[in-house]
Amino acid sequence: MKTAILVGTRPEIIKMAPVIRECRKRKIDYFIIHSKQHYSEKLDAIFFSELDLPAPKYNLNVGSGGHANQTGRILIELEPILVSEQPGILLVQGDTNTVVAGALAAHKLHIKVGHIEAGLRSFDQTMPEESNRIIADHISDYLFAVTDLQVDQLKREGLPDSKIFKVGNTIVDALLSHRSQAEKTSQILRVLNLQEKGYYLLTSHRAANVDDPNALIEIIRLVARIPGKVYWPIHYRTQKVLKEAKIDLPPNLIWTEPVGYSDFVKLLSNCIAVITDSGGVQEEACILGVPCVTIRDRTERPETVDVGANVLVHRNAEAMLEALNRPIASWENPFGDGHTAERILDIVTEQEVLPVLQTLD
Ligand code: UD1
Ligand code: UDP
Repeated sequence: MKTAILVGTRPEIIKMAPVIRECRKRKIDYFIIHSKQHYSEKLDAIFFSELDLPAPKYNLNVGSGGHANQTGRILIELEPILVSEQPGILLVQGDTNTVVAGALAAHKLHIKVGHIEAGLRSFDQTMPEESNRIIADHISDYLFAVTDLQVDQLKREGLPDSKIFKVGNTIVDALLSHRSQAEKTSQILRVLNLQEKGYYLLTSHRAANVDDPNALIEIIRLVARIPGKVYWPIHYRTQKVLKEAKIDLPPNLIWTEPVGYSDFVKLLSNCIAVITDSGGVQEEACILGVPCVTIRDRTERPETVDVGANVLVHRNAEAMLEALNRPIASWENPFGDGHTAERILDIVTEQEVLPVLQTLD
């Protein structure tokens, strides 16, 4: 079956990479479409070269803009491509505007949609990602859920068992294939003059945390209270507000542009703890055994909290300090065994599917 793979943003490229590599390995007839929701070198091209991905066959060049602009332009640009290529399935991953537009364009043409990372819910309708997830799930034909939590959620929403497949998360596949290489080859700690377990890592780009300068100032104040060096590769959305609002950064903060995957995995593996509002970083910290503090009051990744890997602190400095000082016991990775991409392609090509193991090796 001809398989179309849609990506648009940094996390989609990273999490779709194992699926793309597996398509290549199996000699599946596939092609990549890139919406170019992310287009800056450090949110886009760097991952194609580092993760050894083929160039997309189509670039939709939608770029930045409001929700209607991005979603609408993807729908308009994607439809004729799907009409002329007639893929048997379109695979989308996650909860971005690219995902909802891609799923809708294919669904309207009666092309099957496979939603990877289906069933995640923050139960916070103010997040743009929450409506994207719900809509994408309800118009998809294959719902690739990560854990039992998402399977149960999808069933509660009335989606039929026949569409739901528990497969784990492709982020485990991605981390397993890059962790040791990152450890060996990345020079980022030396470049930034950081010592192993001698710094905290920060990422923040969630609209609710960064679009309002007052919320962003709260995060900066939180960082100033952290007892040690904090390294922050700053997403462009956040950089823009920091610059426009002329927000001063505290002296314990070291910042750079966003970094590539090997450097980020190296930084995450070696930090004391990570403070984040990213979905993917919550998962990766949990998989790598790194304590995580999430500057949100809800998460669509509650597995990370349940195993003790993650604490939700919103933008409350006292709660963050308490969370950073918490005693840490080890936990088991809840996101699968690193064979998720294989399972997804087994299902799409109707082969026998392996059960999901909750251990890494
Ligand atoms: C998007 C997703 C979010 C995901 C994130 C991953 C939606 C609604 N949001 O958020 O779910 O977690 O990607 O990082 O789909 N910009 C650049 N260069 C780029 C891309 C963006 O400078 O290549 C700047 C622009 O100023 C742009 C802003 O970042 O306006 C926001 O970009 P956008 O793609 O709209 O949202 P993200 O915050 O990246
Ligand atoms: N990441 C990266 N470089 C960075 C920051 C993050 O490679 O400077 C990776 C990180 O390892 C994770 C993904 O980007 O796999 C998370 O993307 P992001 O936080 O932008 O989006 P979200 O997961 O919140 O949708």
